Amino acid sequence: MLIDSLEVDRLGSLTESSYGPYARALVKIVAEEGFHFRQSADAVKTAMTQGTEQQREAVQESMNRWWPEVILAYGPPERDGESDRPVVRWRLKTRGNEELRQKFLQRTVPLLTEWGVSIPDPKLRFDAESKTWDYTQPDWENFGRIPEDRKEFTDIYKNYLRYAVQHVDRDQPILPGRLWDALYGTRTRLPGSIPLTELLVS
Ligand SMILES: [Fe+2]
Repeated sequence: MLIDSLEVDRLGSLTESSYGPYARALVKIVAEEGFHFRQSADAVKTAMTQGTEQQREAVQESMNRWWPEVILAYGPPERDGESDRPVVRWRLKTRGNEELRQKFLQRTVPLLTEWGVSIPDPKLRFDAESKTWDYTQPDWENFGRIPEDRKEFTDIYKNYLRYAVQHVDRDQPILPGRLWDALYGTRTRLPGSIPLTELLVS
């Protein structure tokens, strides 16, 4: 429910992005995420209002685990000079991190509270004057630093990207099969492509 809510807004904002192929592809994906959100919100509501104590505890535990991650996932609030950044200037990115995070809070907090989920943030409160939510600021200093236990996956991901950049010809339209091949390696083997798994180095 939390991640789906995040994706509805974050990917939704990119349907207005200036990069057409991505913006167009996202329209369907965002509709799908909206469906996920409804379904998962319904599951949370059912567990909390009609479920057993064990089910309510499971929901609360998941909330405690994922809430800080989702707040973090939007990225730091905008700083001065944000509008000069190329991704903003070129309108690749259309909405600010804080604007999207506020949307998330506005949508999820009232629902979760109504269903009896306690939000694991003692600082969370709605400021009626500014009409925004106050919340505990994540450790932005360490934002983007990869925890040791996730480094291995990041290396694999970097190799995916390197492969994609090397093997997808920018002057040719990207065929879905080819992109898939570049990203995931082995589903299709087009002439001249090598499976990605061969590139995975430690
Ligand atoms: Fe989803």
